[in-house]
Amino acid sequence: MSTAPASPSTPYEVLVVGNGGREHALALALTADPSVAAVHAAPGNPGTAEIGTNHVVEATDPVAVAQLARELGVGLVVVGPEAPLAAGVADAVREAGIACFGPSAAAARLESSKAFAKEVMEAASVPTGQCRVCRTVDEAGAALDEFGATYVVKDDGLASGKGVVVTDDRDLALAHADSCDAVVIEEFLDGPEVSLFAITDGTTVLPMLPAQDFKRVGDDDAGPNTGGMGAYAPLPWLPDGTVEQVERTVIRPVVDEMARRGTPFSGLLYTGLAITADGPKVIEFNARFGDPETQSLLPLLENPLGEVLLAAAQGRLSEIGELRWKDASAVTVVLASHNYPDTPRTGDPITGTEQVGDGAHVVHAGTARDAEGRLVSSGGRVLAVVGVGDDLGDARDRAYAGLTGIDLPGGHHRTDIALAAAEQQRGGENA
Ligand code: AMP
Ligand code: GLY
Repeated sequence: MSTAPASPSTPYEVLVVGNGGREHALALALTADPSVAAVHAAPGNPGTAEIGTNHVVEATDPVAVAQLARELGVGLVVVGPEAPLAAGVADAVREAGIACFGPSAAAARLESSKAFAKEVMEAASVPTGQCRVCRTVDEAGAALDEFGATYVVKDDGLASGKGVVVTDDRDLALAHADSCDAVVIEEFLDGPEVSLFAITDGTTVLPMLPAQDFKRVGDDDAGPNTGGMGAYAPLPWLPDGTVEQVERTVIRPVVDEMARRGTPFSGLLYTGLAITADGPKVIEFNARFGDPETQSLLPLLENPLGEVLLAAAQGRLSEIGELRWKDASAVTVVLASHNYPDTPRTGDPITGTEQVGDGAHVVHAGTARDAEGRLVSSGGRVLAVVGVGDDLGDARDRAYAGLTGIDLPGGHHRTDIALAAAEQQRGGENA
């Protein structure tokens, strides 16, 4: 099949690369765009299979993904996870003459190397914690003592959010440093965390709504870090002007610095921030949509998603103007498998996903079909229920009501996703 460049006025098909909750959420939003004629996923999951066509392909194989995109004749490829980006999937798709939403491997280093991200931030004078890159235990020990507790030790490479140890225990911090080839040891940033995503074509920047992710496995932020146990948007407690401030002091300088280096960043720039007493400071960048924040953000977006991502991929994002948002809130609660994030048990049957009530929907992540076609767990974060409502309390009620009907033996979820923000929002309105 031939691949004429996708045009915003002619329906085109889209290939989403990846198999997690973020990719199902992207596929759901793309399906709702009238210009998107069909959605394909590589390899996808049972959720994407319900609304599109899954293709068996290795997501991190640039040649295989580009070939599939060409065979399908899609007008746009959207790369979900970091590993295919770091492997050069977006480069290969673009080389094949197909529009691709996602940065080059060179630009994705903002995520794949924490040391590189720090270097770019320094060059662009971006507010972030001080850090030291350490390659020996002696260097690590010296850096821990320089910054003092609370200690923050990050594996320099990709670790799916699990390569970071934040602890007051110096021995634990040092042991983590010892177990990695290279680590970044960082000043502890104190303050609530915000995930701010911006869509960019390397020149124009369109920030999305700020969202918050819940990284720890248990209620009240107890237990180890995970890939994310839930998320909500918008953030009623965030001071007015914060998004504009971060756009001015972080996102634009980084996008400009990447262009200046000859490795423009085109795709989704995810800025993870701590709102400290000295203002917002960068904790990390990711080169892709966040998971599970995306599950909360996309149902609130009014613009057709394909139109925005295609414009970014084709370097004409300025034509979109601003992103428009529904006057509503969304809360995503992740259902994780037994023993996640340690060694998750898989193969457990999942029931009750068909009916989750008004204003709620299920997003599949670590699910699979067994030989009889029954839904079973296949990963750590199994699925999420997303509730959309007038305010956070309403959205929370819908998400948790949907979750009560779903059964997964040994499954667990947090009960406090968006709780404090919802109480504050209602309290503020009653005040
Ligand atoms: P990262 O993989 O860099 O996102 O780190 C995972 C999590 O560790 C973050 O979401 C924070 O909760 C925590 N973290 C990372 N860096 C810092 C820091 N410098 N100060 C405080 N918490 C941090
Ligand atoms: N929600 C955290 C991440 O996507 O990295």
